[in-house]
Amino acid sequence: MDAIEITGGRPLRGEVAVSGSKNATLPQIAATLLASGESRLRGVPDLADVRTLGRLLHHMGAKVERATDGSLMIDASGVDRPEAPYELVKTMRASVLVLGPLLARFGKARVSLPGGCAIGARPIDQHLKGLQALGAKIELAHGYVEAQAERLRGATVLFDLPTVTGTENLMMAGALAEGRTTLENCAREPEVTALAEALNAMGARVLGAGSSVITIEGVTSLRPMDITAIPDRIEAGTLLAAAMITAGDVLVRGARAADFDAALAKMREAGARVTAERDGLRIVGPERPEAVDFITAPFPGFPTDLQAQLMACLSVARGASRVVETVFENRFMHVQELSRMGADIAIDGHTAVVRGVEKLSAAPVMATDLRASASLVLAGLRAEGTTLVQRVYHLDRGYESLEKKLSALGATVRRVKG
Ligand code: UD1
Repeated sequence: MDAIEITGGRPLRGEVAVSGSKNATLPQIAATLLASGESRLRGVPDLADVRTLGRLLHHMGAKVERATDGSLMIDASGVDRPEAPYELVKTMRASVLVLGPLLARFGKARVSLPGGCAIGARPIDQHLKGLQALGAKIELAHGYVEAQAERLRGATVLFDLPTVTGTENLMMAGALAEGRTTLENCAREPEVTALAEALNAMGARVLGAGSSVITIEGVTSLRPMDITAIPDRIEAGTLLAAAMITAGDVLVRGARAADFDAALAKMREAGARVTAERDGLRIVGPERPEAVDFITAPFPGFPTDLQAQLMACLSVARGASRVVETVFENRFMHVQELSRMGADIAIDGHTAVVRGVEKLSAAPVMATDLRASASLVLAGLRAEGTTLVQRVYHLDRGYESLEKKLSALGATVRRVKG
């Protein structure tokens, strides 16, 4: 298993480009199942999660290839096995995104239940409730969701809470349903809007994405898409946090302020100077951040996917910060490892109190999930000595060559093959 070795203490400087968004691309890949013919997805990052979903579509009978320009080409004409097996779903929860499109196009789907996950129970009850409202018959048997429908019929679905992939699954299902589907209390994340744009490029009629009510006028067929991935705002936020924790000065090309205003506001409050430049955001980190309090929440609130990274920055702040995680239970697994590097963090339920320390010290640490791994890499950039972050397959699920991007900015970091 690969590890990442970081020798801390060097301020990051220079320019770095953000890759295409993982969380926007995954639902778009699933949406290619809605049409026969070849779709072209440009700017898709080369990540383990993208490859996993590609393998899943291949398993169903789709052709999935990388073109020479890096575009992902998917031809779903030959799909004849509308099924997502446990072996693939268990490594990536987002596989559940195939449920809506399969049901809409083929009238049936068999998708393994994702099961427990490191960052909490993460049920899919809202996905299932929504699909049932559209007329699907759903049974749970042998660890699988077995869904059937003659043709889905438009309906009103009120989500109990805003769910990103739940909203996306229902948008895809509604695209080919008969009549109008109205989704209420939707997730408003930029990735949801990006999916609406992709669906509309396929000939769907989706309105209101980015707000809490989305309406979809169903059509009888869709055509393949040709789209470009939006920049990955979580990667962008991670790179900004990396600059911040090292008191660096970095231009993150492709970062768009509107994608994560809440996170930028907190970085500024902690003393970073963040300015919009023509093609991205420039950050100048403070010598030592000031303590800030923040609470994660669905968009446009502070993204849970940047909680661990900002917490790493606050671990060396002047004063005590209070971090409340409201989106997922059990999303403080980085805390134990940060503590091994000298951070002073106490957890009480959904709240972490981070008392800033002057120095972190390098230690061997273990990545436990995707964003937790990123926070450990950031801590390593600040720490005295050489940190070894193990189990970086978590990091590889969501970051395209993070170590190369950081080393181009002057960090002493390398991948150790294992
Ligand atoms: C997506 C993102 C993930 C991000 C999360 C929250 C993708 C592929 N992943 O995950 O990176 O951390 O949004 O921004 O886009 N819930 C239910 N029932 C459901 C569905 C969700 O109770 O049927 C709960 C979850 O347990 C969680 C909350 O709703 O507490 C939000 O989860 P959700 O938005 O669904 O997260 P994902 O779409 O899985």
